[in-house]
Amino acid sequence: MTDAYDPAKEGAQMAFDGRMSYTDYLSLDAILTAQHPRSDAHDEMLFIIQHQTSELWMRLALHEIGAARDQLEQGAARPAFKMLTRVARIFEQLNSAWDVLRTMTPSEYTTFRDDLGESSGFQSWQYRLIEYAVGNRNAALLKPHAHRPDLLAALEAELAKPSLYDVAVGQLAKAGFDIPEAVLQRDLRQPWQASPEVETAWRGVYADPARHWELYELAEKLVDFEDYFRRWRFNHVTTVERVIGFKRGTGGTAGVSYLRRMLEVELFPELWALRTTL
Ligand code: HEM
Repeated sequence: MTDAYDPAKEGAQMAFDGRMSYTDYLSLDAILTAQHPRSDAHDEMLFIIQHQTSELWMRLALHEIGAARDQLEQGAARPAFKMLTRVARIFEQLNSAWDVLRTMTPSEYTTFRDDLGESSGFQSWQYRLIEYAVGNRNAALLKPHAHRPDLLAALEAELAKPSLYDVAVGQLAKAGFDIPEAVLQRDLRQPWQASPEVETAWRGVYADPARHWELYELAEKLVDFEDYFRRWRFNHVTTVERVIGFKRGTGGTAGVSYLRRMLEVELFPELWALRTTL
């Protein structure tokens, strides 16, 4: 009989008394003890982990979007592009994750839905932070965070900064495109207003990519992100309809009709509009 294979004989570290282990480095004790189902329903664990993993990916998306915006502002477009590619891939990953949640039927969800109380993804401050960071700013959506001054402060701080799209449009101005002062000095807390001059500038970029290659690549990175983001919204609303039909949301909105309305929100409207007029 041969002995069982022992990786220790080839140098694998087997003793962690006083050394940092995998569990320590990744704070797995905190992460893996953070699932607290409120019911005995089998499917509640899926529901909790699906949301928690989504929030972890959103955390990374925020890390990348913030850094991409800083790099872009400093004129370092290439590192920014790499980060924006990663953000699009994160959303691709989140899009695939719906396949796991879709295995939960309406019958299964109803066994624990009442236990959620009024909690809802509508109160996801990271999701709102992503929207604010990229450019979809609606200060009315700060309200559900009023009870948490720390979260409110983070969201308010984001609204005071130029969004990723503000910075992108700033790059158009720096490259010599004619962008009105009213756009460049806009009230950052307000929703973005589609601007004919900004559309004309982006059209100029698309009309001669070779001359404006960096801006052209930037525009495509933004469209790529919005494309995946739209798919996330679409997958969400379809899953919601599949699981709760047209019931009201636990967060109090009309549910599917609210989410359908959100499908119409455009993050970078001029980048979509120019495709018709090019
Ligand atoms: C069975 C699964 C799910 C159902 C039935 C559901 C239902 C809903 C409903 C009805 C809303 C509208 C707000 C409300 O009144 O509650 C909403 C919003 C939201 N949900 Fe879900 N959801 C599900 C899964 C998820 C997952 C896995 C995530 C990932 C984090 C998520 C994130 C969000 C976000 C971010 C919003 C706010 C969207 C916005 O304001 O544009 N949801 N959800």
